[in-house]
Amino acid sequence: MAYSSTTPAAIAPAKGFSLDRAIRKVFPSTSKLTFNPLFKAVVNASDVLPRLVFPEFRGLPPNHLRIRIGVGNRILNNQVHYLTHARDFWMFAFSEKLADAGSTVLDIGSGCGRWAHWLRDYNFRGRTFNGRYIGIDIDAEAIAWCEQNFDAERFRFHHSTHASVSYNQAGEATSSYYAVPEAEGTVDLVVSNSLLTHVLEGELENYIKESYRLLKTGGAIMHSHFNLDYPPATYGTRHTFQHSIGNARVESMEQPEAAVAYRTDYLFKVCREAGFSTCEIVHMPGGAQHQPILLCKK
Ligand SMILES: C[S@@+](CC[C@H](N)C(=O)[O-])C[C@H]1O[C@@H](n2cnc3c(N)ncnc32)[C@H](O)[C@@H]1O
Repeated sequence: MAYSSTTPAAIAPAKGFSLDRAIRKVFPSTSKLTFNPLFKAVVNASDVLPRLVFPEFRGLPPNHLRIRIGVGNRILNNQVHYLTHARDFWMFAFSEKLADAGSTVLDIGSGCGRWAHWLRDYNFRGRTFNGRYIGIDIDAEAIAWCEQNFDAERFRFHHSTHASVSYNQAGEATSSYYAVPEAEGTVDLVVSNSLLTHVLEGELENYIKESYRLLKTGGAIMHSHFNLDYPPATYGTRHTFQHSIGNARVESMEQPEAAVAYRTDYLFKVCREAGFSTCEIVHMPGGAQHQPILLCKK
């Protein structure tokens, strides 16, 4: 068994005043704001001029959907971030042979297509993506946008029934089980970008088990996350993760899914129990702009 070990960093409580922290107390999640009709109208109006000037911005999802997925916390001028942020991730996955242009890829928490458009537009030495991409999300509006903007032959999307305060989806208890409607042993790579940063233990364990069930033998998961053993650059200012809910450390008890962090030991335990044979934490090229990745193989 190859589970790499890590030395946990000490978690020092944040001290003193921070404007960022004060704002986050009032608005723990920018995502929630994007469901407000007035906020939506204003941020989408700000997109009209850039779309006129730059043709490459015209195929992007509306600004409120981009803001909902994070885009470096930029409310304006996030177009280039949306277009380029997945590049390091896919370069890593392809160069490590975790996927290629013919793979079946499952993306959990697929949002408004930031990871998918890279595959749709992939073209290297005349080879385009001829595999299958499956996106899962709880955001019905984002799924509808993706269904209209990606070809159904290669891209399909499913709506997860999990509840989330931050993503405006009411539902059953947060530990409810969601079975991904895809066949066992058919997927080469399961990815998620900044999904584990928004789910509590029940959903996390659900998705790790589902990932294992759906993967082919030799297939891998790559799940980015907030890891308390490798605290993000925002730790101590925007993030403190001061509340515990089981193994999850959260920023806000009112909106626990707004920002969630875990320890490596817990993540490895869940993956080991699901059946994964190797597990490590890897760091993307591109440095601190990327969260660490939980990389495990079946
Ligand atoms: C920070 S966004 C990242 C979106 C996308 N992965 C990206 O990087 O562009 C988190 C996404 O996870 C989705 N999400 C949150 N909880 C979820 C859950 N339990 N199951 C599926 N998707 C979830 C949200 O709706 C949102 O689209």
